[in-house]
Amino acid sequence: MEKVYIETYGCQMNFADSEVVGSILREAGYTLCTDLQEADFVLVNTCAIRDNAEQRVRHRVRELRALQNRCHKLRIGILGCMAERLQSRLMEEEENVSFVCGPDTYRRLPQLLAQVRQGQRAAEVELSTTETYADIEPVRLASNGISAYISIMRGCQNYCAYCVVPYTRGRERSRDPETIVREAQTLFDKGYREVTLLGQNVNSYSWQTQDGACDFPELMRRVALIDPALRVRFATSHPKDLSDKLLEVMAAHPNICRCIHLPVQSGSDRMLKLMNRKYTVEWYLGRVDAIRRYLPDCSITTDVIAGFSTETLDDHRATLDLFRRVRYDYAYMFKYSLREGTYAWRHLADDIPDDEKTRRLNEIIALQGEIALENNRLEVGREYEVLVEGESHRSKERLFGRNSQNKVLVFDREPASGISPAVPGTYRRVKVTSCTAATLLGELVQ
Ligand code: SAH
Ligand code: SF4
Ligand code: F3S
Repeated sequence: MEKVYIETYGCQMNFADSEVVGSILREAGYTLCTDLQEADFVLVNTCAIRDNAEQRVRHRVRELRALQNRCHKLRIGILGCMAERLQSRLMEEEENVSFVCGPDTYRRLPQLLAQVRQGQRAAEVELSTTETYADIEPVRLASNGISAYISIMRGCQNYCAYCVVPYTRGRERSRDPETIVREAQTLFDKGYREVTLLGQNVNSYSWQTQDGACDFPELMRRVALIDPALRVRFATSHPKDLSDKLLEVMAAHPNICRCIHLPVQSGSDRMLKLMNRKYTVEWYLGRVDAIRRYLPDCSITTDVIAGFSTETLDDHRATLDLFRRVRYDYAYMFKYSLREGTYAWRHLADDIPDDEKTRRLNEIIALQGEIALENNRLEVGREYEVLVEGESHRSKERLFGRNSQNKVLVFDREPASGISPAVPGTYRRVKVTSCTAATLLGELVQ
C-alpha cells in the first residue's frame, strides 16, 4: 500500500478539503501517514490569497526537493488554490512537482496518482458549478476528537476587487442540508462537541427542496437542534448579507456560539466602494448594533487590509476610527497584496509603497493589541462555560479550552481541593483571574 502525506496551508476551507482528499484516497486504497519520511506522495494543499502565502509554498516545495534527492520514490502534488491559479505553469516552474489538482477535481486524485506512478505529469484544474463533495465523509486529520469543520458551500462570486478566491474556487454553490445535518449528527455521536460550518459567505447559503427552501438561519437551527451539548460555530459572514433572521436564530439557541466574524476590510467608504464590498461604514456599524442588540455577550472579530489601491492617510485613519468604535475582540490584519487576474489587477494601481503599507498595518496591529487587552481586562472576575480541549501549548500543568465567544481560557490541570479535575471534551466552568491580550487565565470552579 502506498503512503500519502497531506500538508495544508491557508484557510479553514482548505483544512476541510484536505479531510475530503484524505477520505477519497483512503477509499482508493492509499494509507495516510503522519511521517513525511515514509511517504510515497506528499500532497501540499495551498493558498493563493496573498503573495506571501504562495512564497511559503514555493519555499516548501524547494525544501522537499532535498528529501526527494535522498529518497527517489517521493512524488509531490500541489492541490488547492495555488494549483487552480497557476495550473500547469506551476509544474513548469517547479520541476519537482509531479501533478497539480484544483479544488473541484479531488475525486480524480486516484487516477492522477496512478498516472504519476507510471511516470507521467498531469494537471486537473477544471472548476465545477455543482461539486460539493456532499456524499464524502471526511477523515478527521490531526483532529482533537472534539471540534470539526463542516463545509456547507463552495466558491464565491462576490468579486471583491482585491480577491483571488472567485477565480480559484469558482461559482458559489450550496451543499444538501440533509448531508450537513447528518455529518454533524455523526460527529456528535462520535463524541465531538463543536462543529464549525464553513463557507466564504455563509449568509448566502441556499438550498431548494420540494418542501421549500433552506437558508442559512434554517440550516443553523437544524444543526443546533441536534443536541444542546453540541456547540455550533460558522465562518465567514459577509456584512452585506448578515440578516436579523440569523441573529434571531442565534438568540434562540444558546449552543450557537456567541462569536461573529464580520470582515470589514476598511473603515473608509471610498475604499469599500473601490473594493466592491457593497456596504458602507454606516451599514456595517448598523449590523454591529444589531448583533449587540440580539446577542449582548457576542464577540465580534474581523479582517482588515492596509494599503489598498489609492488608500490615503484619511482612509487609513478612518479604519483606525472604526476599530476604536467597534472594539473587536480579535482581528486578522493584512497588507494589501496585488493578485493577478483580479479587478484590482486589471484596473487599479498598487500604488502604496510597501514600507508605507507596513507602517499602516503596524499601526492597526498596535491599536488592536491595546483594544484586545482592554477587552480582556473586563473579563477578569467573570465565569464562563468552557469546552475543555486539551493541554496548554506552553505548560503540561495547564489545560485550555474556549468559551462560547471563542476566547481561549487557560487553567491549572490540578484544581483547588474539592473540585474535580477537567477532562478534554467536556464542559466546565472557569473563572477568569487574569489575562494577556491573547489569552484569559482562570481557575476551575464547581
Ligand atoms: N470570504 C471571506 C474572506 C476570505 S479571504 C470574506 O469575504 O470575508 C480572508 C481575508 O484575506 C479577507 O477577508 C481579506 O481581509 C484578506 N485578503 C483577501 N485578499 C487579499 C489581498 N489581495 N491582499 C491582502 N489581503 C487579502
Ligand atoms: Fe474574496 Fe470577497 Fe469572496 Fe470573501 S467575499 S472570498 S473577500 S471575493
Ligand atoms: Fe487561501 Fe483559497 Fe482559502 S486562496 S484563503 S486557501 S479559499
